[in-house]
Amino acid sequence: MSCGLKSDSIIKRFFGSVSILSVLGALLATSPLLSAADVESIDWSKVPVNKPRLFYPGQSSYQWLRTSEHKKATEETKAGEACLRCHKGEQKSLGGILVVENRLEPDPIEDKSGYKRLSVQAAHDDQFLYMRFSWKTDGEGPGNIGNFMRFDGSEWAWWGNHRQHEAVIDDGQPAIYPDRLGIMIGDAKVSVYPEQGCWMTCHDPLVGMPEQADEEEVGEHPVIGQVFRKNGIPVTNHIVRKYLPGSRAEEGTDWAAVKSEDELLALRKEGAFLDLIIWDASLTNPAGVAADFNVLELKKVDAGTSALYPNGKTIWGPKYMFDEAKVGFSTLTEADIADPAKPKHLIVGQNTAPIDAGKIKEGDLLPAHILDTGSAEGSAADIDYAKGALEGGKYTVVIRRKLDTGHPLDDKVLKVGGVYTFGFSVHDDATGMRGHHVSFPTSVSIGPGKADIQATTLN
Ligand code: HEC
Repeated sequence: MSCGLKSDSIIKRFFGSVSILSVLGALLATSPLLSAADVESIDWSKVPVNKPRLFYPGQSSYQWLRTSEHKKATEETKAGEACLRCHKGEQKSLGGILVVENRLEPDPIEDKSGYKRLSVQAAHDDQFLYMRFSWKTDGEGPGNIGNFMRFDGSEWAWWGNHRQHEAVIDDGQPAIYPDRLGIMIGDAKVSVYPEQGCWMTCHDPLVGMPEQADEEEVGEHPVIGQVFRKNGIPVTNHIVRKYLPGSRAEEGTDWAAVKSEDELLALRKEGAFLDLIIWDASLTNPAGVAADFNVLELKKVDAGTSALYPNGKTIWGPKYMFDEAKVGFSTLTEADIADPAKPKHLIVGQNTAPIDAGKIKEGDLLPAHILDTGSAEGSAADIDYAKGALEGGKYTVVIRRKLDTGHPLDDKVLKVGGVYTFGFSVHDDATGMRGHHVSFPTSVSIGPGKADIQATTLN
């Protein structure tokens, strides 16, 4: 393999005592389209490296940017001017200001860096876009485990969380949260996205933002609440996620003023939504895939069936545990978390067994998610190759995506010769929500073009 990924060591790390061959065999068997050799034979040393500057954004929301506090820029931002017209080369200083306690960060993360360089390489052929990323993690070790559920003797509850979560700050739960890379893709069909990028999706009522919407109101909302109700998620977790102003009445930003289903569908048909790929060191990497979302009225999983889903109909009652015959135990304990030999991921077809209440004791832990590439299908399963590894404090991730996935209502159709706007984000060191590093909008051309990153044409 020339891309430098050590898939063997990843497999060992994730699967512990499970046979490496059986895991590889199953991965290949469940991905008939995947000719991994093609991706892995790309000679990345011939592909230019671009290094977008990522910084910590705090609560610099769409709304805040349009207040008079955004000095001398209020009107310009409202008029759709590009962030980079005024902030070129300022990412490091912006991140330095925003990462410590300030007017846009009430809960600073101790020792968090304000700035990060992400290395990005892109290549394409007539079918696929291939991207290779690397970055130095802020974490001390691999953020490749979590999330978990813990049984307290009578019920299951989420266990471990990100560093800005009250369960960690106030209740002493451990800061365990997966590292991940986000790639948001769109173009001028989303108003002001090429100029202001991810900030078009970040609003004051979102979770962890200054005017976080009331959970019950979110739960009762006919459109935004349905995702949570459908999955049986308790009211305490009904949140507003990323959305685009174009999905709200009069292109506004009132989270509850969602346009009608017909209007939303018309926007999707015009391509006025964003594509969002998330590679997650814990939740998707063990299966060599990434999660495929889209953002319009909310951030949601693409249609079809994702390989990644909550462990159980409701996330509070697991459906699967580990198969004792295969891994030697049914559940994990807190002490097991630090033991690298014990698998921490439930992979259907590899190491799972149906939950058996008789085997569950107080204090037992189980992964809160399941990976099942065998039943993944449709648009949600488009990112069928996404592999990463952490070595010497540096992540390297390679992702493959069809230029045209065949799912134009929730994936951006990329054309050779086209120029698109990408936004990148990195969560590491057990951070969640706004605790990430983000890029200003970055242009990417498929083939030669006028863009920050030009995807090299492979022969
Ligand atoms: C017309 C120029 C202009 C544009 C366009 C602009 N800004 Fe600003 N921005 C400024 C100025 C000027 C300041 C104030 C600097 C200061 O207070 O020292 C500022 C401050 C900020 C701050 C606060 C930093 C602090 O000191 O607290 C953030 C965050 C920010 N801008 C983000 C953005 C983002 C994101 C965009 C794009 C959506 C954007 N800006 C677009 C000019 C601009």
